[in-house]
Formats: sequence, C-alpha cells, structure tokens
Amino acid sequence: MSVVLKFFAALAVVPLLFFSSDAVGSTGTLAISLGTNTVCGLSAGTPSGTIYCTNISDSVPTSYQVLPTVSFDSLSAGSAFLCALKSSAEAFFCWNGDLSSLKRVYNGSSVLSELTVGEAQVSAFDRSVNEIRWWRNAGLFPASVSGNYSSLTSGNNFTCAITTNGTVNCWGPQGSAMQASFSDYNMTTIVAGDSHMCGLDSSGFVICQGSNSSGESYAPPGSPFEYTRFALGLSHTCAIMERNGTAVCWGGSGGTQLHTPMNGTTFEFLVSGGNLTCGLTASNYSVLCWESDWTNVSVRKLDLPRILPGICVADGGSECNCGAYPDSENLCNGTGVICQRCDFPNPITPSPPPAFPPTPSESKKVGIGWKVYAIVGSVGTFLGLCAITYFMWVICRRKKVHNSVIPTIAPSGGNNNAGATTATGNSSSGGNGGRLYPPNPFFSRSSSAPRSRMFSRQWSRALQRQRSGPSSFKDRADEFSFAELEKATKFFSLDMKIGAGSFGTVYRGLLPDGREVAIKRGESSPRNKRFQEKENAFQSELAFLSRLHHKHLVSLVGFCVENDERLLVYEYMKNGALHDHLHPKNPDFESPVISSWKMRIKILLDASRGIEYLHNYAVPPIIHRDIKSSNILLDAYWVARVSDFGLSLMGPETDESHLETKAAGTVGYMDPEYYGTNQVTVKSDVYGFGVVMLEVLTGRRAIFKYEGGDGEPVSVVDYAVPSIEAGEVGSILDTRVAPAASQEAEAVELVAYMAIHCVKLEGRDRPSIADVVANLETALALFEDSQRSGSSANASVISLEARD
Ligand SMILES: *[C@@H]1O[C@H](CO)[C@@H](O)[C@H](O)[C@H]1NC(C)=O
Ligand SMILES: *[C@@H]1O[C@H](CO)[C@@H](O)[C@H](O)[C@H]1NC(C)=O
Ligand SMILES: *[C@@H]1O[C@H](CO)[C@@H](O)[C@H](O)[C@H]1NC(C)=O
Ligand SMILES: *[C@@H]1O[C@H](CO)[C@@H](O)[C@H](O)[C@H]1NC(C)=O
Ligand SMILES: *[C@@H]1O[C@H](CO)[C@@H](O)[C@H](O)[C@H]1NC(C)=O
Ligand SMILES: *[C@@H]1O[C@H](CO)[C@@H](O)[C@H](O)[C@H]1NC(C)=O
Ligand SMILES: *[C@@H]1O[C@H](CO)[C@@H](O)[C@H](O)[C@H]1NC(C)=O
Ligand SMILES: *[C@@H]1O[C@H](CO)[C@@H](O)[C@H](O)[C@H]1NC(C)=O
Ligand SMILES: *[C@@H]1O[C@H](CO)[C@@H](O)[C@H](O)[C@H]1NC(C)=O
Ligand SMILES: *[C@@H]1O[C@H](CO)[C@@H](O)[C@H](O)[C@H]1NC(C)=O
Ligand SMILES: *[C@@H]1O[C@H](CO)[C@@H](O)[C@H](O)[C@H]1NC(C)=O
Ligand SMILES: *[C@@H]1O[C@H](CO)[C@@H](O)[C@H](O)[C@H]1NC(C)=O
Repeated sequence: MSVVLKFFAALAVVPLLFFSSDAVGSTGTLAISLGTNTVCGLSAGTPSGTIYCTNISDSVPTSYQVLPTVSFDSLSAGSAFLCALKSSAEAFFCWNGDLSSLKRVYNGSSVLSELTVGEAQVSAFDRSVNEIRWWRNAGLFPASVSGNYSSLTSGNNFTCAITTNGTVNCWGPQGSAMQASFSDYNMTTIVAGDSHMCGLDSSGFVICQGSNSSGESYAPPGSPFEYTRFALGLSHTCAIMERNGTAVCWGGSGGTQLHTPMNGTTFEFLVSGGNLTCGLTASNYSVLCWESDWTNVSVRKLDLPRILPGICVADGGSECNCGAYPDSENLCNGTGVICQRCDFPNPITPSPPPAFPPTPSESKKVGIGWKVYAIVGSVGTFLGLCAITYFMWVICRRKKVHNSVIPTIAPSGGNNNAGATTATGNSSSGGNGGRLYPPNPFFSRSSSAPRSRMFSRQWSRALQRQRSGPSSFKDRADEFSFAELEKATKFFSLDMKIGAGSFGTVYRGLLPDGREVAIKRGESSPRNKRFQEKENAFQSELAFLSRLHHKHLVSLVGFCVENDERLLVYEYMKNGALHDHLHPKNPDFESPVISSWKMRIKILLDASRGIEYLHNYAVPPIIHRDIKSSNILLDAYWVARVSDFGLSLMGPETDESHLETKAAGTVGYMDPEYYGTNQVTVKSDVYGFGVVMLEVLTGRRAIFKYEGGDGEPVSVVDYAVPSIEAGEVGSILDTRVAPAASQEAEAVELVAYMAIHCVKLEGRDRPSIADVVANLETALALFEDSQRSGSSANASVISLEARD
C-alpha cells in the first residue's frame, strides 16, 4: 500500500495548491456488487486484509472467505463484479460474486493503486509510469492516459479523476458530459455513482453533477466540509456529517429531503451500489446496510467479520501526513497502519467548531486528544470567543480529526474517503422480487457452525448438485477364494509385488477372466487382528465400499476372507502412483507428469473430485484419512484416482472403536490438529491434499532434506508456505517443469494459494474439498483460456467473464 503513498509523495513534488492532503477515491475496504447480491470487505485483525463476502439475497446469509490466505490492499465493485488489489504482488483479482469465477486479471509489471470498478470498466493508477490504465474497456475507454491524477473514480460509462490543479478530467462515452459539468469547479475529491458524481470543491462545499432524476445531484447547503465521505448509488447520494459521523442521504425516493437512517451511529465510511448503502460503524467495525427507500428504512447488519476502517499502508505510517489511526497496527496485523484522514484544506469561512458530547458507544475511543479538543471547544464557546482566529480553528479541527471520535481512513489522509468509495451500479440486474433484506439476522459464520450443521449443509448441496454423483451402483464386490488370488499373483511372487499400502502388500494379479487387478494382502499384525475380531463389521463395510464407484476413485473389485487371510482386490492402475512420478527413483525416468503444469493440475483436480465424492456424495460421508501422493493412482489414460480408502472412516458419527482401527495417516501428511484433538475430520483429508498440492508444485517430498538447510528433514509445508505467502511462488516451483507463462503462471499461483489455505493449522480455516475442486477447475480453465487466446496483444488481461 505504500503504493498510494508513493504516488502522492511523487505528487507532492508538484506545488499542490488544492491538495494539502492526499485524496483517493472509490477504492476502499468494503464494496457492494448489487448485480451479484454480494457485499465484500477486507477483514481487520488476524488475518488482516483477507476478503470476506456475503450473499445478501440469501435468506440465511453467512459470510465466506475468498482467497483466504492472501491479504489485499483494497476492493472495488461495480454491479456485475468485484475486484481486489494486491499492490505488493502487482496483481488484482476479479470475480462476479461466485468464487469459482475468481480470476487474476492483471499479471503485473508495474505497481497499481486506486483500483476502481465502474459498470463494466476496471481502472487503476499505474504508479510506475504515472498513468491511468483501463481494463475490459471494450474500446470505450483509452488504454491509458498519462499524468498525475488523484481521486480516480468510475461510474457507468465514465471514469474521472482530478488533475493536480483541481480540474476534473473524465473519459468514456459519458465522460465528456461529466467533465463539462464540472468545468466550473476546482475539486479536491470526487466520487462517482451510476450516472452522477459528487465531491467537495476546494472550499469544502458539496458539488454534485450528472443525472438528477430523483434529486441525487442535489447539493445540500451547509458549512464547508459539513458533508464528507460520499457514497453514490444508482439514484441517491449519501455522505457523512463530519461533525458527528452520522450518515445522511438524499435522492432515491426522497428527492432533496435529507434522511438520517441511523441518526446517532458514527460511521467510518459509507459505500453504495444500486439502491443499497452500507456503512462501517466506528464503534465496532460492523457493517450496517439500508436501501434508499426513505418511507420504510430497514437497517440490516451484515454477517461479516470486523472490516478494516481504512487501507493499510506499509512503512509504519511514516508516510501518513496526519498520523496513524489509533490501534491500526493491530487492525492491520503487521501489514502496516491506517493513515488518519486529514480533511479541511484551506477553509474559507471558518466557523467555531461545535462542541458535542461523545455518545456512549463512542466514548471508549475518546482519548486525551478529544479532551483537549473539548476543553478548547467549550472554553471557546463558554467565553463567547466567537472570533477565534482562523489559526486556532485549524488547530482545533486538526485536534478533533486526529484524536476524536471520527478519525477516518484514507491513506495519508485525503479529504475524501479512502474507503468511502462508491460502487456504482445499475441495480436492475439485482434483486429477487421480494423483500431483499430480512431484518437484522445475527448469523454465526460458517466456520463456527457446528459440524452437524456443516454436514447437513453439505448434504443438501450434494443433493442439489449431484454433479459428479455416482456413475453406477454395481452389486457388491465379488468374493474370491484365497486359491484364486494365489494363482492370480503367481503365489504372491516378488516380481508381482507392486507396492505396500496401509494394511498390507500390494501385488499385480491376473484374474482368470483376463482382468488385471491389484491385490492387497493384509499382514498378520495386531492391527489386523482387530479386523478379524470384527469379521461382520469388516464384511458389511466391504459390501458398502464395493458399491462406491466413481471415476476418480479406484474401485474395489472384490475381497477374500479366509481363515487369517484378508485380501482386497482393486482395479489395476497402469501408470502407478503420483508419488512415483513426482519422486522417481531413477532420475532419467520420463513422465508426462514431470514435464507439464497442466497435467499436474489436471491430476490434482481429478483427485480432489474423488475426495469430494467421498466427503459429499457418499452415504454416509467417508473420511479417507490417508490422502498422500502414493494413494493417488493414475490409470492407463492418466486419469487420477484416489485409492486406499478401503479402510477409511465412514462419517464423523462412526463409533470410537473405528477411530482406532487404523493409524490416522502418514507422517508429513497428517493433520496437525489431529495431534491435539485426536479427531479426524473431513478437513484432515483437506490437509493431506494440501500437502499433495505442495508436493506437486515443488516436486519435493512431504518430508525431505533441504540442500540449503542444516541437514535436518523439513516438511514441504514449512518449506513452501512462507514463500507462497510472501507472493514468491516462483521461487519454490519444481524446476523440472518449464516455467509457466502468463495465464499458466496465474493458474499455478492459484493452486499455490489454495494449497497453503488447505494446510492451515486449524481445520476450520481450511476450505472444503468442494472449494478446492472449484478453484482447481478455475486453474485448469486458465490453461484452456491461454491456449485459446494464444499470444494475443491483450494477453496480460484475462477475460472477466464467468468461466462458464
Ligand atoms: C446468492 O443467494 C441466492 C439465493 O440463495 C442464490 O440464488 C445466488 O446464486 C447466490 N449468489 C451467489 C453469487 O452465490
Ligand atoms: C507526474 O509527477 C512526476 C513526479 O513529480 C513527474 O516526474 C512527472 O513528469 C509527472 N507526470 C506528468 C504527466 O505530469
Ligand atoms: C455505455 O455506452 C455505450 C456506447 O455509448 C452504450 O452502447 C452502452 O449501452 C452504455 N452502457 C450503459 C450501461 O448505459
Ligand atoms: C489544469 O491542468 C490541465 C491539464 O492537467 C489543463 O488542461 C487545464 O487547463 C488546467 N486548468 C487550470 C485552471 O489551470
Ligand atoms: C480554480 O483554480 C484556478 C487556479 O488553478 C483559478 O484560476 C480559478 O479561478 C479556480 N476556479 C474556481 C472556480 O475556484
Ligand atoms: C437536482 O434536483 C434538485 C431538485 O430535485 C435541485 O434542487 C438541484 O439543484 C438539482 N441539482 C443539479 C446539479 O441540477
Ligand atoms: C438525531 O438525534 C438527535 C439526538 O439523538 C436529535 O437531537 C436530532 O434531532 C436527530 N436528528 C434527526 C435528523 O433525526
Ligand atoms: C449530527 O449532526 C447533524 C447536523 O450537523 C444533526 O442534524 C444530527 O441531529 C446530529 N446527530 C446527532 C446524533 O447528534
Ligand atoms: C456493533 O455496533 C452496532 C451499532 O453500532 C450494534 O448494532 C451491534 O450490535 C454491534 N455489534 C457487536 C458485535 O457488538
Ligand atoms: C498478528 O496476529 C498474530 C496472531 O494472532 C499475533 O501474534 C501478532 O501479535 C499480531 N501482530 C500484530 C502486529 O498485531
Ligand atoms: C432496490 O433494488 C433492488 C434490486 O434492483 C430491488 O429488488 C429493490 O426492490 C429495490 N429497493 C427499493 C427500495 O427500491
Ligand atoms: C505478463 O504478460 C505478458 C504477456 O503475456 C508477458 O510478456 C509478461 O512477461 C507477463 N508479466 C509477468 C510479470 O508475468
């Protein structure tokens, strides 16, 4: 985020007549995309800057996390999609409210700031070359415009920004009309709505221009800087009353009348999209929303975690002109601080500052500074010193801004609203016909939902989708005699041995009917004695497992129970285990898996679909418990299938004794949470799969000796996660694969982000396997995209359209 600051630092070289502070417009930490019914925000605390979204048309909305392991700087949204900027990684992602459409749009070669989304265009300031750039402009916008601008903001068919001398420049089909309507004003800040735009002129008065059909371009009279931090929607305008932080709106159904839907609540900033406005409360950073129907305002609290009150900037705030926002180091959790806004540049008609008491909810934020202000203010009022000097006034206002109840955001200040921003948007595509928002539900987040609920949700989803549902339900597996299997394996000869799995040695076998199979023969160990004791349970489980048929699971063909012998007969997988392709014993071993990222991701996708079937479609759900690369097998057509689930647990409800029938996995793949809780959950499989993903990305074993290390074995998790988190995915990638170019690199990166999310310490922080499947589908689709578009001139821009 130093980006924005450095941009302004660069600006500061130019005499800044009207920019005593830095303004940024229409990018922030909360965004509304009404067309997709999505409201997203960047979380405060730990982790800071990760995106949480909530679907406001859901009757029971719960928030969900997008790219959970990545911290973003800022967000912006139009009616159809949202974008998030990560300037340190020189990247931004866009999605249309649906996680699986998440796409990295910008592949990075320069540092961006002030990302803004209009109705269809995406625009940002490219700090490295001092120009505004557009994406997805469909020829309606220039590719770039050079110059030093501030307050970049985008509406429906226009994007505007303020030049260094305060004039407004606009681009796009509606741009010239908008620019002309602002030609009489020197502006310090502008915020675009759908078809109108408001801001403060250099004297601090509200100026609104553009569409005015509902009075949205009304400019309420008042003292300078009385209204700040605008949020403009389709046909309404909201702003914050600077003196007490209350939100005030006009337009919509109310014409020029002013409405205070939450009189008395202090807001940090507001955002609007369509007819919806949301505000971040100063007292606890929760998000309250209302529609611009003033006859019947119902305010609803969204199910989102605490949202950052402003954009976090690096460098410990050394670049903040007006100091750092209190406690913002904690809010940003190490990623920087939030700068105080520095409002009130150059006022012309100073008036004594009003004295006002803090409301109870605000009082805890009132520090010494407020008291200073209150004393100065009340002394001033009390003694009737109406003629307080201008200088005094400035000091007072500054004090107030710095320390009182309405400190706000904006990187290094800004008369505007860093977060205050506006999503623009044509709301016509949104809505569900009925009442859009049920009253104020306080729903728990999905992560804290009880497991039983989680399961029933997975159930209903499974029932709805049946996407990769069972291909067929065959009869129970064949029962073989021991003699038959002895014959098939040449009496378990060594040259038929192909490996060892849980519960025994695996042999290749040839059945009399010509079928090639893999036969696993249980060892006589105490562990298996348990099975013998539970003969009936074993058999019924077998009968159940033999009915599990899925194209990404290795099917059980049959079994043998004879005296002490316990054998399982599986389909034969010609190309062996993924593990052996990634870590060949013979360095000259050639494999299509080694050489291609696309192949590797395809294998991960196949395997994740197999696990998804076990978790979400099998009845009851099955936890594999031993996901690792040697249990992901490749058939003759290189389709990956998950194997060795024969002894997996069924569902979380199974009785305790089952839990002990098998060790809970393999070192290096084992869920760290298991050590603490001794409980295996579906998220344990997700952890194991995350390790497999890291193995596939790095080409390293789950536990390996690192040549750069001290000879101690390291886990691939410890090796890869820090680099991926730091945005240096390239440094850990398997060098045996040719470096991925452009879109392919995005795909690999997406897999990397997914992987580190899967190996989070706590199960509830890990995604569901369905999320993993969705993201791997997205990643694989990027290869198809890149093959389609080839090396077109626009190769660095990935289409924003939904994949399907
Ligand atoms: C939001 O929820 C509605 C109703 O449950 C659903 O139809 C819609 O697809 C959801 N939208 C997204 C982007 O998930
Ligand atoms: C923008 O500002 C920088 C730094 O002050 C300056 O070098 C550059 O020439 C300016 N660009 C334009 C187009 O004015
Ligand atoms: C934007 O402008 C283009 C060209 O003038 C027009 O075709 C399009 O309909 C406009 N979009 C909207 C949403 O008004
Ligand atoms: C402001 O700067 C723009 C170019 O940046 C120029 O076209 C315009 O004439 C200037 N306006 C004034 C009033 O100086
Ligand atoms: C805007 O600023 C220019 C100087 O850059 C000044 O000449 C002009 O009068 C100002 N216009 C208004 C409306 O304040
Ligand atoms: C918008 O309309 C209102 C009346 O509805 C009027 O008072 C106001 O001046 C208009 N604003 C503009 C910029 O024309
Ligand atoms: C807001 O509330 C205050 C006291 O809480 C009251 O004095 C004021 O009239 C209210 N303003 C509006 C516009 O309702
Ligand atoms: C906040 O200030 C506005 C005007 O400055 C006033 O109308 C409103 O009543 C105030 N609200 C409270 C709670 O004091
Ligand atoms: C946060 O504050 C809002 C209003 O200021 C209140 O309605 C809500 O209950 C508070 N939420 C929490 C979790 O304290
Ligand atoms: C960030 O969060 C971690 C984990 O909760 C905590 O240990 C650390 O102190 C936090 N850092 C800051 C700067 O708040
Ligand atoms: C706001 O917009 C949504 C979607 O367009 C619509 O369903 C809803 O009825 C609108 N609400 C009001 C108060 O106009
Ligand atoms: C971005 O894409 C372009 C075109 O494909 C490519 O030349 C460039 O190297 C890529 N940049 C990065 C940082 O990957």
